[in-house]
Amino acid sequence: MRKKVSVIGAGNVGGTLAQRVAEKGYADVVLVDIIEGLPQGKGLDMLQTGPITGSDAKVIGTNSYEETANSDIVAITSGVPRKPGMSRDDLVLTNMNIVKSVTEQVVKYSPNCIIIMVANPLDAMTQLALHVSKLPRDRVFGQSGILDTARFRTFVAQELDVSVEDVHACILGGHGDTMVAIPRLTTVGGIPITELLPQETISKIVDRTVKGGGEIVSLLKTGSAFYAPAAATAQMIESVLLDKKRILPCAVYLDGEYGIKGVVVGVPAKLGKNGIEQVIELKLTPEESRALRKSAEAVEELVRVMRLG
Ligand code: APR
Repeated sequence: MRKKVSVIGAGNVGGTLAQRVAEKGYADVVLVDIIEGLPQGKGLDMLQTGPITGSDAKVIGTNSYEETANSDIVAITSGVPRKPGMSRDDLVLTNMNIVKSVTEQVVKYSPNCIIIMVANPLDAMTQLALHVSKLPRDRVFGQSGILDTARFRTFVAQELDVSVEDVHACILGGHGDTMVAIPRLTTVGGIPITELLPQETISKIVDRTVKGGGEIVSLLKTGSAFYAPAAATAQMIESVLLDKKRILPCAVYLDGEYGIKGVVVGVPAKLGKNGIEQVIELKLTPEESRALRKSAEAVEELVRVMRLG
């Protein structure tokens, strides 16, 4: 039997993600939205790509959660995207209400699912879903690090005129202005970029990466990035469904790792059929540690705003 993946929110990120998953053919997809007709229409359209892409995955769109019952994975993309001039944190109160009610419905019908959060502000929304679902931290985590590192990797590859495939990047911390890029662990064919690029260039690339989402928001004007966020989420889904045990940067609730307890931030983790199977703890320099703690504090501040109690 094929696995089942539900995608909540049939907007830009949700629609693109559902299509990516459906195309692979290893899971049936249920697309949910509050707008009547939107998930149904997109679902039917996606289903009709099957004969072309060679996928037998069933895709349905719905406004109710009954069809999501017994999902293996649920990706939550329902939420408002930011507008030019807004930070991801500005979305907290609006998206909090959406993510809370969505999570309640999701676990009602799929009490053992794995939840991958995509709505922003990412780390706070992941922590909210963890709180509301009462699932263990291995089953509720967020997508942000794959996107942030993909941006970093893109800019490094452009700068050096090399294949993106050979560039691997390390970024820790929250998905926002306080994210912590680690250039000494960012490599091209195994060579740290600190050996290949002057510090000034690295700093410019890091800065562009940190502001990468904002750059796209200011170009689009009416929404935020969705192709790369959807591709990143699809990669996480694949690692879980195929039990690939990839080491990917994920937003995870830390329980003492990195000296941080009780808050969701981005760290490298092993992703397999059980969700987060291991949090990889890197040895950081004092400066990196300080930056990571600062990033965790920024997430804590948002969590306080939500008054999770
Ligand atoms: N239940 C289900 N769907 C909802 C709900 C809800 N309670 N509230 C809103 N939605 C739906 C909207 O109807 C819309 O179709 O979520 C969808 C969001 O889609 P877009 O507006 O296109 O936003 P998108 O670009 O997909 O971003 C979604 O992901 O990357 C983050 O910051 C981004 O938080 C934002 C989220």
